[in-house]
Amino acid sequence: MRQDHLISATQLSRADIEAVLDRAAEIDADPGAWEGRRRGEILGLCFFEPSTRTRMSFDTAMKRLGGQTIDMGSVESSSVKKGETLADTMRVVEGYADALVLRHPLEGSAKMATEFVDVPLVNAGDGAGQHPTQTLLDLYTMRENAGLDDVTVGIMGDLKYGRTVHSLASALTNFDIRQHFVSPESLQLPRSVRYDLHESGAQVREHTELGEVLPDLDVLYVTRIQRERFPDENEYLKVAGEYQIDTDDLEAAKDSLTVMHPLPRVDEIAPEVDETTHAKYFEQAHNGVPVRMALLDMLLENAQTDTTGGDE
Ligand code: NCD
Repeated sequence: MRQDHLISATQLSRADIEAVLDRAAEIDADPGAWEGRRRGEILGLCFFEPSTRTRMSFDTAMKRLGGQTIDMGSVESSSVKKGETLADTMRVVEGYADALVLRHPLEGSAKMATEFVDVPLVNAGDGAGQHPTQTLLDLYTMRENAGLDDVTVGIMGDLKYGRTVHSLASALTNFDIRQHFVSPESLQLPRSVRYDLHESGAQVREHTELGEVLPDLDVLYVTRIQRERFPDENEYLKVAGEYQIDTDDLEAAKDSLTVMHPLPRVDEIAPEVDETTHAKYFEQAHNGVPVRMALLDMLLENAQTDTTGGDE
């Protein structure tokens, strides 16, 4: 992979994705062998929005590679509270770290931040924009459970504001995958994502009822309605609680169906589904560590090659 920053899944070719997933699989097979890889290097964690999995798995990943992390902490406890701009914060933290991870509520913020830093920067979610490292771990989980070619995938829930959906949908166009999108009409894919899918020649269908497509699916990717992104709470209340699945619904599915969710879930997947062989969302969350280890190792390796003038 030859990328300086990872901002959007649209940057990733099939070869890039496979390189990260293959390295993650090597790490998974023998995690101890990677312990000293990034010794002496520091990852800066800048989260301007809540996070559990993404922040903690980046933290774990860097430490498992032998590196260290520094964390800006909450917005409340940082200088952001005093009115510091994103540009200044990133310029300062760049001086402390060898790579940066940024999560921010505004779409486009990660792209903007790359204008102020030279160290590799990873977008860990920019508003309703993109979340490309979630996509890499989603693809890893999908590859392990259902494969990535000749597969039918359903993506359900908040397709409008869900950044994990936007990144995943574009990455899936690199593979022989039929994509079905299931949502209320008010939460369908944004025009820009739909346009990109269309341009890539992807096989895409949109539905309002899961039942129309469930029996055909190999993977069902369920998402949370992104309450915090609705400009009007009443609009959220109109769709809250729709698009839930339980074990009765799954009777219509293939025995081999893989159910995924980026988490956190609210009420989209009934807890009883956790006990079925379909449920892969906790495994998916755990895959965040080897996948982020692989990605960080590759980005830091590239950065080192760039500064030492080594092979391209
Ligand atoms: C997702 C996010 O932040 O976009 N969470 C995550 O990183 N696993 C999904 C969500 O918040 O619904």
